Amino acid sequence: MEIRTLCVETAPLEGITTWLFRRTHCRMFGGADRYFAPFFSPVSEHILTRKELRDLSPEHNGGVPTVPQVMTKRAEDFLWAAEQVRDLGFEEVNLNLGCPSGTVTAKGKGAGFLLRPDELDAFFDAVFSRACLPVSVKTRIGYHNAEEFGCLLGIFNRYPIRELIVHPRVRREFYKGPVHLDALAAALESSRAPVTYNGDLVTLEDLTAFSKRFPEVDTVMIGRGMVADPALLRKLRGGAPADREELRTYTQTLYQGYRTAYGCPGPAAQRMKELWFYLIHLFDNGEKYAKKMRRVGNAAEYEHLEAGIFGDLDLLPQVRKPLDGTGPSAP
Ligand SMILES: Cc1cc2nc3c(=O)[nH]c(=O)nc-3n(C[C@H](O)[C@H](O)[C@H](O)COP(=O)(O)O)c2cc1C
Repeated sequence: MEIRTLCVETAPLEGITTWLFRRTHCRMFGGADRYFAPFFSPVSEHILTRKELRDLSPEHNGGVPTVPQVMTKRAEDFLWAAEQVRDLGFEEVNLNLGCPSGTVTAKGKGAGFLLRPDELDAFFDAVFSRACLPVSVKTRIGYHNAEEFGCLLGIFNRYPIRELIVHPRVRREFYKGPVHLDALAAALESSRAPVTYNGDLVTLEDLTAFSKRFPEVDTVMIGRGMVADPALLRKLRGGAPADREELRTYTQTLYQGYRTAYGCPGPAAQRMKELWFYLIHLFDNGEKYAKKMRRVGNAAEYEHLEAGIFGDLDLLPQVRKPLDGTGPSAP
């Protein structure tokens, strides 16, 4: 299919794609059809934390097509979370079956849920009999190996999943190494739910090559690629690449926004470090600055480094690959 008309969703990236990021990206660059918010994990007391409410409040999400994501293995907690999400004005809720973090999987959540197909089946049975909103699922293709995916697809196919977002890696692969495109092909052949592809789409060439190989896929989800190049989706629609002044305005809007939200500059600088872990790939010879950025300890150091990057480095026409590392807060 013509890549310009691809439906593009932005991936949830805990620690990066906050409400402020989503709103700023949407207003400044656009090009995305939907923004998936990072997961929240309901507690058995059924209370949303202040941070969760801030991220999902109508005031912060107005004008940005957002899908909240929930991570749990308990149907009653998911159903409660879906009601909260509906009451906040959202029209869909997403289930996280991909998080590879050891602390998450040890509790049987995220990718850890994939190890318990019978429980997953019972969970879906309860969720789909009572959910107040359409439910989409973001999944890996297995916990230990890709052969698990057939059984998982068999379970998914029993339920009216609105959209099945597939990141074709298993848990131990985290976000590195080659994706298993054969597993994606299997999903496309046998999934009852529409399949969205997610993984390693970083440049327009990646999108073109992917579309050529899988012309039947009309929706993709992009995470690190659009953090590294915030104008990627605009370029996909035929628009201009980001220029230096625009990027400076973008990072300063985010930094000032975080300073206001946190009431102090230290945590704002931490947030920006996570963003720069990817964004630095849009600058030529950024390695030295990338190293220094990882060691930033306070706001003054951050501001100095950011000024140095914009002052010293040339912008690249597209991201320098590979991008397969993950930043300090990757789950
Ligand atoms: C820092 C970081 C945070 C992430 N947080 C989430 C999350 O909250 N929920 C989720 O489903 N996936 C999360 N992911 C996975 C991404 O959504 C996405 O599946 C992954 O980055 C692969 O897509 P990409 O190659 O386009 O980045 C995270 C990944 C990273 C690197």
